[in-house]
Amino acid sequence: MNGEITSEINGNVLSLTLNRPEKKNALTRAMYSELTEALERAGGDDAIRCVVIGAAGPDFCAGNDIGDFVQGVGAFASPDVDIETLPVFRFLKALTFFQKPLVCALQGQAVGVGVTLLLHCDLVVAAKDISLSLPFLKLGLVPEAGSTLLLPQRLGYSRAFGWMALGEKITSAEALRLGLVNRVVEPGEQAAAAQDMAATAAALSPSSVRYTKGMMRDAESLWEVVREEGRIFRQQLASPEARAAFAAFMNK
Ligand code: COA
Repeated sequence: MNGEITSEINGNVLSLTLNRPEKKNALTRAMYSELTEALERAGGDDAIRCVVIGAAGPDFCAGNDIGDFVQGVGAFASPDVDIETLPVFRFLKALTFFQKPLVCALQGQAVGVGVTLLLHCDLVVAAKDISLSLPFLKLGLVPEAGSTLLLPQRLGYSRAFGWMALGEKITSAEALRLGLVNRVVEPGEQAAAAQDMAATAAALSPSSVRYTKGMMRDAESLWEVVREEGRIFRQQLASPEARAAFAAFMNK
């Protein structure tokens, strides 16, 4: 652990915090691995009944670390590497199959997987200052984390496609209206509000929550979508458009 994911247990709630604010909490392979291990441990520990994901600093998460994309392109793009062994996909699998309530506390900017991971959370509290963007198409990539299924389900096709294709940013008011978040609070209050929600969720019967999540979300089918998106995503990572977009970002 290098402190880029911090964890804290309060009663039967585990809180995981993305803690790389100087890089807008962009997620590295090491961070995905730590998140995965924490979720897997929490999943098997009866003493933990709810997990909160939050972030340090003014912004939630700038998506996948672009340096990691550039460095990892070879291994990631190779069809010989089983997707399920890659840290990001191990994390997405842990999210997809997580059976306990997942609560998210969101603030500031969220980009890419910093947005699509929300679609796996059961409850989301957002600060008023959020701005959610999905630049996959602009980067020559495709949406991931099951969002090709989950986003049109939540927003309808036009709204979902428009968000990605037109480079729109979604604000807190819109996120609430679209059903992407449960509650909007003043900036700085999201972590406490998420803990309140988590305490309520943790007091529920674990088996009724597990059955309810199982019936409301078909994790097996969702995972098939995540895998298929991943197959195309890694193809696209090696595309000239994606390489040019990453080079432009790295060279500012
Ligand atoms: N990967 C790696 N580093 C990132 C990053 C990412 N996804 N997002 C931000 N950073 C780094 C920046 O390089 C910068 O580092 P530096 O201070 O060493 O130069 C630092 O975080 C602050 O980012 P900056 O761009 O200066 O902040 P901003 O407020 O002007 O813009 C964003 C914030 C999120 C809009 C912008 O950083 C951005 O577009 N990031 C890339 C998002 C992205 O495309 N993610 C991949 C999606 S698939």
